[in-house]
Amino acid sequence: FVFGSGDPDADLLLIGEAPGEEEDYKGEPFVGNAGKLLDRILKAIGYNRNENVFVANIVKCRPPENRNPLPTEIEKCIPYLSKQINLIKPKLIVALGKVAAQTLIKDDKLIKEMRKKTHYYYDIPLIVTYHPAALLRNQSLKIDVWEDFQYIRDFMKS
Ligand code: URA
Repeated sequence: FVFGSGDPDADLLLIGEAPGEEEDYKGEPFVGNAGKLLDRILKAIGYNRNENVFVANIVKCRPPENRNPLPTEIEKCIPYLSKQINLIKPKLIVALGKVAAQTLIKDDKLIKEMRKKTHYYYDIPLIVTYHPAALLRNQSLKIDVWEDFQYIRDFMKS
């Protein structure tokens, strides 16, 4: 069970998809290669994941063979995430990748259609960017992700 990690009073809440093998082993989200990249991106905007940031996933257990979580699995895990959001009360939620974005926005649009807009999870502003694992596979997304994180940095200062 990979619940989440970081500062429980965080203003910035990052939500990924589901734990992978390393996360499952360590019991912590985003500790594999995608997580290391996420740490570097956070550092570039002056954050680190233990200070004013909380990192969690939509699904709390690793789907077999890292397949996408099934709708039934997402449905079972959402109450945990809702409770986390209610306790943390972040200023901004960032959905990392398609599964997080589509689940939280309740829409099936592509990331490129959901980026650069302020959505809301109940009354909390939510923005969407690509998952760091997508960035590892496709370097051309780097510019878009960097733009999104600059927006996040500015929003957090406002
Ligand atoms: N990918 C995710 O979406 N979450 C993790 O915790 C690790 C990789």
